Amino acid sequence: MNARIIGTGWCLPAFRADNDYLATLVDTSDEWIRERTGIRARHLAGEETTVSMAAEAAEKALARAGREASEVELLIVATITGGTDTPSAACRVQAQIGAKKAVAFDVNAACSGFLYALHMADAFIKSGMYKNALLIGAESLSRIVDWTDRSTCVLFGDGAGAAYVEASESGGLLAQSVGSSGDKWEVLSCRSRSGANPISGAQPAGYLTMDGQEVFKFAVRTVPRCIGEALEGAGVRADEVKLFLLHQANLRILQAVAKRLEQPEEKFPMNLDECGNTSAASLPILMAQLDEAGTLKRGDLLALSGFGAGLTWGACVLEW
Ligand code: UT7
Repeated sequence: MNARIIGTGWCLPAFRADNDYLATLVDTSDEWIRERTGIRARHLAGEETTVSMAAEAAEKALARAGREASEVELLIVATITGGTDTPSAACRVQAQIGAKKAVAFDVNAACSGFLYALHMADAFIKSGMYKNALLIGAESLSRIVDWTDRSTCVLFGDGAGAAYVEASESGGLLAQSVGSSGDKWEVLSCRSRSGANPISGAQPAGYLTMDGQEVFKFAVRTVPRCIGEALEGAGVRADEVKLFLLHQANLRILQAVAKRLEQPEEKFPMNLDECGNTSAASLPILMAQLDEAGTLKRGDLLALSGFGAGLTWGACVLEW
């Protein structure tokens, strides 16, 4: 049995902040941001929260799958910005959508989070423990970036994407390659804001910090390698893959990966121009938008890959 995606959904907050808007906040320009990243705009949460966006995306995924929340057995939210240290965002989404019988928990693997969730769902489904899962990537990164740091605040956006998966005898997840490298944790991190106790005294507020060039080099090296491993595991050639859905961090990373895999850039769809980098949400949002547009057809071979803080990475090959 494999985990097979049956329905998808996505949600972006209403407020669209284009590059010119950011140039009113920090010393940057539309030209710099577009040339270095490919980003033109991102959506920022106002009234929306990670949980409200996750619930909206989840309900759309269930509706597209023709399933009820009450049928969901496993509910995983991939997020680093759940809004509460405890309980998990997943438990709050569970309450909001009425997924009463689900086992609900979060996974913290930053931009690889959705791939990690898919990895776990497939393992649970293969073991026979659960027959279905609702997987959500949801983030409000705008709440953890330092809005005075132009090197990070221009990159990120908020949103949520969801996929409902079921046990299937054919198709679905064919192979995956997932990994972590904790020794590089400082390259991209956000210290917790709740570190103070009577002995430690006040702790400085934590914001997202990143060594952009290190992350860039890591991504360009690791993503083609793990996609290659997943392709090999699935017995699929790169040219047989219809689309490569990558975490949306930077246009130049997508182009470099396409080049290394010797595949045309047209096979690497992109929404980072409108969404920015939404971390764990980026892959499921992209997938759900392509699904909604009718681009993904049953039987298509897709390769998915995510990479980010941890450092973490993952890739899988699936038959849609
Ligand atoms: O989900 C995974 C998360 N992260 C990533 O995938 C990030 C991967 N890395 C990147 O995408 C790129 O490294 C960045 C887009 C973050 C930066 O691009 P870069 O080509 O590596 O630029 P840089 O950091 O070398 O900075 C070049 C210059 C610097 O000025 P000087 O020192 O040359 O005078 C920066 O101060 O650009 C300056 N700069 C900016 N200028 C205008 C940095 N941020 C900005 C900005 N606007 N927003």
